[in-house]
Amino acid sequence: MDINNLQEYEDALLYDAEYGHYTKDYDLFLNLKSQGAVLDLACGTGRLTIPFAQNGFWVIGLDASQSMLDLARQKTSDLPIQWVQGDVRAFHFDQKFDLIVMAGNAFQALLTKEDQLQMLKCVKEHLKPEGTFAFNTRNPSESELKTTEDFEWWHDFQDATGETVQVFGKQNYDALENIVTYTTKRIWPNHETLCKIQLRFTSYRELASLLEGAGFLITQVYGDFEKQLFAKDSPSIVVVCQLK
Ligand SMILES: C[S@@+](CC[C@H](N)C(=O)[O-])C[C@H]1O[C@@H](n2cnc3c(N)ncnc32)[C@H](O)[C@@H]1O
Repeated sequence: MDINNLQEYEDALLYDAEYGHYTKDYDLFLNLKSQGAVLDLACGTGRLTIPFAQNGFWVIGLDASQSMLDLARQKTSDLPIQWVQGDVRAFHFDQKFDLIVMAGNAFQALLTKEDQLQMLKCVKEHLKPEGTFAFNTRNPSESELKTTEDFEWWHDFQDATGETVQVFGKQNYDALENIVTYTTKRIWPNHETLCKIQLRFTSYRELASLLEGAGFLITQVYGDFEKQLFAKDSPSIVVVCQLK
């Protein structure tokens, strides 16, 4: 697996302390089907995979990061979840799924149109005829697509030991590729770390044409997880689709 954009995920415990409590997307993703087999793509530490299993779904969580999967396994020894290390652009299972999800803006880790299409090809091969595929990606806007010279304060959080971490970031926007490179500085009382990640932004128009070309029919597009219909200035693009 050749993925060199995973630095943010090397310390899964830290990632979980910072982002693992997010639940705003639960209502939407967890209610797309009432039962069946679910594939959670780029599942991370199982933020969404775990409630799917707790709700009685049969679940596979696939992620590229060993660290994220190790923590996911530790958290769920009592649940029948299969954790698989793999690439969303090239996976194979001997079964099809009722629901495939890719949450947490993980779609933005696909940095080229080819990568996006490879992922969609794999999803298509693994979706049952009546199956649903749903994912979210940030809606490109002026406030996202920008270059900043200096570090700006983003937020604070408490790490697993209870220490407060201050998070600062700066970003560089490549308008040709629609890729933003973020540099994140995390500051503890006694040390600090620097981390880089690249994320691609895709407009709704581009996304719709990509999905159409890959053989998907969009059944619903929301602009946030409160299920507001998508509009130009929505913060997110939340797409629910099925096979054509
Ligand atoms: C922002 S996290 C989201 C995790 C989870 N979906 C959630 O909503 O909490 C992105 C995840 O995508 C994974 N990832 C990035 N590129 C990937 C790829 N090509 N194949 C599989 N996983 C990938 C990372 O390892 C990371 O766990």
